Amino acid sequence: MSGHKPLSSDDLASLVRETFLRDVLTFEETDSTNTRALSFIASTQLVETPHLVYAESQTSGRGRGGNTWWSQPGSLTFSLIINMSELGLAPEQQPQLALLTGLAILKTGQQILPRADFAVKWPNDVYLADRKLAGILTEVPPQSPQHAVIGVGLNVNNEFQTAPPELQNTGISLADLSGQSQSRCEILTSFLQHLDELFQALSRGEPVLADWSDSCLLTGKTVTIQAGPNEIRGVCRGIDDSGALLLETNSGTERILGGVVANWV
Ligand code: BTN
Repeated sequence: MSGHKPLSSDDLASLVRETFLRDVLTFEETDSTNTRALSFIASTQLVETPHLVYAESQTSGRGRGGNTWWSQPGSLTFSLIINMSELGLAPEQQPQLALLTGLAILKTGQQILPRADFAVKWPNDVYLADRKLAGILTEVPPQSPQHAVIGVGLNVNNEFQTAPPELQNTGISLADLSGQSQSRCEILTSFLQHLDELFQALSRGEPVLADWSDSCLLTGKTVTIQAGPNEIRGVCRGIDDSGALLLETNSGTERILGGVVANWV
């Protein structure tokens, strides 16, 4: 695999030219692009959105539920600041942001590796060949609820054979599967274009989540959800129009609005 080359100023300019981005804030290294994006919103009301907060590397990448996000040079780590009302999205559509982000990653991956086995995992992961390819962390600043920060960690050219042992068999990058280094600028451009199309379709009331259900990793599997102190187990029947996971349990079909997927078989 070729060495890691940071995105250039030309790459960043082309991202703004070819996608719905209005501006980009970049860091060679930062703690967490989500944390940077949230402080940026808190420090100014004048964020031009959609605004990309991009870092070549993070020292304290954050995942859901207080987890950390491990990343290496060659992966993509960024946060997109959007203004939901500007994009024609209602506050109650906020749970769908992570689902559409996952779908945009899946569509991007399928363009690059058309025969590979990509899947979305409720609520916020993308899988490739049964291993985690990308994670999404969506956060809404309490003082500015019309904004949302969509953080994405996407494994592109980093290799999991050098990852911490506990991740070596659970994570994967595009390069791990294809044996080839991929253009991170092209991937980011394609991802943002897909996301723009999906947000527009959502704002027009189109059934955008149907595509998500077609690629759902958990459908037909027996899934255990940890929701606070409660454990719910049932057969996954996809998601409904609002993005809730549907589980067929012994006491009927349950709509799961939040929680952690503890396991699936
Ligand atoms: C998860 O799988 O739990 C979500 C991981 C999200 C990681 C990304 S990397 C860019 C952005 N900044 C962060 O600190 N986290 C997200």
